[in-house]
Parts: sequence; structure tokens; C-alpha cells
Amino acid sequence: MTIIENAPADLSGLAEAQKSQVRSVYQEIATEYDERIPGEGVSDDLFTASEHDFVLSKVRAGQKVLDIGCGTGRFTVPMAAAGAEVSGLDISRAMLDVTAGKLAARGLTADLREGDMAHLPFEDASFDVVTSMLALMHIPLGDRQAVFAEIARVLKPGGKLVIGVKNSLFEQFFKGDRFAAVDITDVEAKTLLFTKTRGGKDLTAPWYSFSPQELNSLCATSGMIVTHLRGNSTISAWLADEVLADSGVAGVVRTLEKNLGDVPPFNYLGYHILVEAVKPGR
Ligand SMILES: C[S@@+](CC[C@H](N)C(=O)[O-])C[C@H]1O[C@@H](n2cnc3c(N)ncnc32)[C@H](O)[C@@H]1O
Repeated sequence: MTIIENAPADLSGLAEAQKSQVRSVYQEIATEYDERIPGEGVSDDLFTASEHDFVLSKVRAGQKVLDIGCGTGRFTVPMAAAGAEVSGLDISRAMLDVTAGKLAARGLTADLREGDMAHLPFEDASFDVVTSMLALMHIPLGDRQAVFAEIARVLKPGGKLVIGVKNSLFEQFFKGDRFAAVDITDVEAKTLLFTKTRGGKDLTAPWYSFSPQELNSLCATSGMIVTHLRGNSTISAWLADEVLADSGVAGVVRTLEKNLGDVPPFNYLGYHILVEAVKPGR
């Protein structure tokens, strides 16, 4: 599969230096990414099942979908398998190579692009859905509004944005990480620390979480309206793994999270937040 290169030529300046750092980290860990995220355990399983259900419930066969920060295709591949016409954009060529391999192994295709989400290489009003999972935290703060404006630009009127981001409101209560123990958020330093890499080095990348209020405001300023805000891991994030190891407890938590994840104020307290926003006009 051909991957189209679209990386910006000039990566100077603070924001560009941060993006360059992000790119080099993912270049380094691309072939081990799928073993690192998600981590292992009941919390991780509940978390990833919830992400998967949310995203796949918003995408239909035949729709044009853009997955930004698509990485190794955790969502690009299942969306293509579900019959969507998917484009995947990532700043790391090595991550895209993994996605291309997975698509080829399953006889699927997608339009894979190497590039920066602050400058989407697509025409206005090209997509029915734009997805971005676990990637927007890497945007330098100065680029945030530009990224949301770019998303709104490439969405068709009536199109949807579907994202999963870490919740900075949750971080006010709990600064540690519940999952994926090898990748650690340093809330104070605003970085994600990748430990125990195959190369033996610890790697860091900028990581800025989002509050529900910020998400509402970023969408509104870009001309999109938040239509669904769901908390992911609203309960399991507060329970020790030993408690969740009991299958009865895990079943109760799964049912409670499924039903309370959309209900205020529980949705605002998720470890991560899943958001659907619509660009009005149809
Ligand atoms: C944590 S991974 C998430 C990958 C995938 N979406 C998932 O859920 O597994 C973050 C991805 O965002 C990509 N990324 C970070 N900054 C980016 C930018 N400015 N433009 C495009 N991709 C970016 C990284 O290269 C990486 O592949």
C-alpha cells in the first residue's frame, strides 16, 4: 500500500519542535505500540471495549471517515472492516507502516497519509466523520484551535467529530495512571513518559489533557456542537485491580459504566472522555 508523504518541511519553532519530538518517539516505538497500549487487566479491557463501542457506533458502511493520529490503526482497521471508506493521517511514518501491514493482512484498504493534523491535506467538506483517539493530547497548546478548525473545515455539513481524550478534570482528583503501566502521564510536567521500551530508553512526549469545558469551547469556536459527551472508566478508574479481579464485581461495574457513562455528573468524571460533535448545516 502506498503511503502519501505530507510532512511539513519546516519543523522549527516551539510547536514544531514539540511535534518533531512526538514524531521521533512514535518512530521509535511503532513496532511495540500495540503491546504497550492498552495495558493488561480488567480496567484496560473495560476501557478499550467502551472506546471501541463508542467509535464504531458512530460510523456506518459507505461513509467517508478520516482518522487523525491514526497510529497503528487501532480504529482505522476496524472502521475499514466495517465498510467505511477510511483515510488515516499520522505524523509518524513508522506507525502508518504498521497500519498498512494490518490492512494488507486483512485484504482491506485505506488512504494513508503522513502529515500534521494542524494542516490536513484534504479538501473542504470531504468527510462524513473525523475520528481521533488518544492523539489530540499531543497537540501543542498553541495548535489546538487550529486543529479543531481544520477538522471543522474538512467535515461535510452535518458531519461528525468523534474523539477520545484524557480528562483533565479527572486529573484534579487523581494524578496517577490507572492503565497501561508502561506509559505514564506526568500531569505536572504535561508529558507522557514511555518506560521499558525495547531500546531500553525512557522516552517523553508532550501530553495536554482536556477538560469537558475546553472541549465544548474548542468545538463551539470552530463551529461544531457537542452532541454526546461520555465518560470512559467512570467507576473502574477508582477501583483497585484486586477489586476488579472478582468477576462478579467486574460485571456490575461494566453494567454501571455502560448506563452511567452518559449521565451527568458521572460523564464529567471519566478517566477519559469520549465526545461526538456535529458540524451543523444539514
Ligand atoms: C497514542 S497514539 C494513538 C494512536 C491511535 N489513534 C490509537 O488510538 O491507538 C498517538 C498518535 O498520534 C500521532 N500524532 C501525534 N501528533 C500528531 C500530529 N500533530 N499530527 C498527526 N499525528 C500525530 C502519533 O504519531 C501517534 O501515532
